[in-house]
Amino acid sequence: MICAIIGSGAIGSALAHPFARSNIDVLIANSRGPESLAGLIAELGSHVTPTTLPEASKADTVILAVSFTATADAVQGSAQSNGRIVVDATNAIDFPAFIPKDLGGRPSTDIIAEMIPGARVVKAFNTLPAAVLASDPAQDGGRRVLFVSGKDASANADIASLIERLGSAPIPLGKLNQGGLLQPFGASLVADLTVAKRFLRKALKRHARPERILVDGSQTGREAIHSCDTADRPKEKSRRELKPARVRQSGYLNNRIEQDHRTIKKRVRPMLGFKAMASARATLGGIEMIHMLRKQQAKYAHILRPSLAEQSNLLAA
Ligand SMILES: NC(=O)c1ccc[n+]([C@@H]2O[C@H](COP(=O)([O-])OP(=O)(O)OC[C@H]3O[C@@H](n4cnc5c(N)ncnc54)[C@H](OP(=O)(O)O)[C@@H]3O)[C@@H](O)[C@H]2O)c1
Repeated sequence: MICAIIGSGAIGSALAHPFARSNIDVLIANSRGPESLAGLIAELGSHVTPTTLPEASKADTVILAVSFTATADAVQGSAQSNGRIVVDATNAIDFPAFIPKDLGGRPSTDIIAEMIPGARVVKAFNTLPAAVLASDPAQDGGRRVLFVSGKDASANADIASLIERLGSAPIPLGKLNQGGLLQPFGASLVADLTVAKRFLRKALKRHARPERILVDGSQTGREAIHSCDTADRPKEKSRRELKPARVRQSGYLNNRIEQDHRTIKKRVRPMLGFKAMASARATLGGIEMIHMLRKQQAKYAHILRPSLAEQSNLLAA
């Protein structure tokens, strides 16, 4: 099976790393021609071969690593697709707001499939930031997961097996309009509005009403916050007029949380677990607070007085 990557930017070149590491040959092309890829090839070695766009489009498996809006242009030459597998690693994003494009509820991969008649389109490699995708997927005794979804079960299985060979753990999500709905940029593990509202009400009851809520790119999450906030605000006992909660969306929030979680796991693992809820809460709160200070998220991180240690004591009090 000949594999090719179209696009050599952040994601295209990140994807070339696991191919090189696993000694699997791959072609790579961009809009500027093979000569522009000399630096990448020198870094990755002989398993990664630069090629032209028309040559890359003829591979058995073509991975699209271009922006969603550039896709139509990049796949122009692949009209004769004859059952070829095209892997859609793109995310449909509106810039500069960095929010999911409004596609009227259609999965973006459906739109890409229409651009390449005859191709068996699979969605994969779109959920991790480039640097994470390029790094070794074997972590802490496990393997990093990559999701796979698409209409054609045998194409999904082929890409799942390619992902295995590249060292990651594939998680098949089924068809695009089923489990695959969880995979696009901005989708959330909580795709159901009723469930999202129930979760939010519980969280707000427990942690009190915040001025600002940071949520992943999910439209469901955003809608749940607006609807709960509008319904619950008038019931607040305080007399002052409450402003609506401000919502900030971050497409890669889940990845960021996972990164923070890594620091917690590193500290907690040698402790062999917790025996009581109270000590777990205090310890995790402490780790999180030190981590916030380290990331300069403390309120006065940029000034010397009070010192970080004093701020830590104040926060802990
Ligand atoms: N960056 C991430 O962390 C990340 C994570 C997950 C998914 N994604 C998705 O992956 C896709 C690529 O993102 P990126 O960050 O890698 O973008 P990028 O750094 O801007 O790279 C885009 C690549 O596409 C190539 N390209 C543009 N138009 C082309 C055309 N008509 N024909 C052939 N190649 C063309 C560019 O070629 P030149 O090099 O010649 O300009 C460039 O190599 C996007 O859809 C993005 O949403 C990105």
